[in-house]
Amino acid sequence: MGASSRPVRSPSGPTPATRADALAQVHRIAEAVDHAWHTAHSSDRPEIPLSVVAALALRTPADADERAWVAAQLTDADDAGLLGFLRATWQLYAHTRPDLTPRIAPLAMPWFTTPPPDRQLLRAVRRIVQAALRAGLHELLAVARDDVDLFGPLLEVLRTPGARTAHSQFYSPPDLADLLAACLGTPQPGESVLEPAAGTGGLLRAAAQTIRERGGDPAQVRWVAVDTDKLALAALAINVIIWRLGPHVLIAHGDALADDWQARAVGERAEAITLARDVQRAASALDLFRRLDRTDGDRP
Ligand SMILES: C[S@@+](CC[C@H](N)C(=O)[O-])C[C@H]1O[C@@H](n2cnc3c(N)ncnc32)[C@H](O)[C@@H]1O
Repeated sequence: MGASSRPVRSPSGPTPATRADALAQVHRIAEAVDHAWHTAHSSDRPEIPLSVVAALALRTPADADERAWVAAQLTDADDAGLLGFLRATWQLYAHTRPDLTPRIAPLAMPWFTTPPPDRQLLRAVRRIVQAALRAGLHELLAVARDDVDLFGPLLEVLRTPGARTAHSQFYSPPDLADLLAACLGTPQPGESVLEPAAGTGGLLRAAAQTIRERGGDPAQVRWVAVDTDKLALAALAINVIIWRLGPHVLIAHGDALADDWQARAVGERAEAITLARDVQRAASALDLFRRLDRTDGDRP
């Protein structure tokens, strides 16, 4: 998407002035999205609102005019436009981070089903987009992306109390995470940070902020995270981009206590990268053969 010069009508939200404001705004966004989802749709599918908020977050431009333009485009979009936005976002993710793509499957796949998502679901998507933008998702990320975990509080409100208990889903408050990270020292370039019960990654965020505050670059550290909760790991794979954790990230699905999770995750990551490369090669070869096909000579 690119910015246009025409005046825009966009649902801009509040800009947090302090860190406490930013943390409170995360909860307001979560509640607004939860309300929009449950009043527009009767199913219990937390991956749907999570996916919509993740797509909005991934596609938040740095420039204020562009943010206003994107918000206006999304507000005016019809069903096909919204579906196109979601599909393009997940295609872009797969293209840029094939290593993490298996992790975002729960968020991406709902938009590529046969038959495609119905009108009721897309109406719910529209309500979620409007609620998140009005609650200030763009403004929050513009000023405080490194300070907040959008998805921990969102998953907490979206899941039923029973599901929360089943997933041991009670995340560390950000201030406590910051304190823990400050006590643990500063990881150096090439060193690994391991989170054996990662959830959506709140402790990794705090560690990355500590590294930045001490003059380092989180992208030079190796991040290793494991959890049994696939949806939390999908959110973590989005946070990796929001928090700019860099290219050396291993996100494993498995039991940190019982599994050979690390070796398995390294194998899965290598396979995903190879598959993505093979698909790209096959797509260009197919395009070449299609163009050279003598039975199809008139096609431009
Ligand atoms: C209390 S949350 C803490 C998340 C994060 N560390 C934080 O401080 O915000 C616990 C997380 O541990 C995960 N978990 C529980 N048992 C686990 C196990 N055996 N292996 C991997 N993850 C586990 C749960 O799925 C949940 O996401």
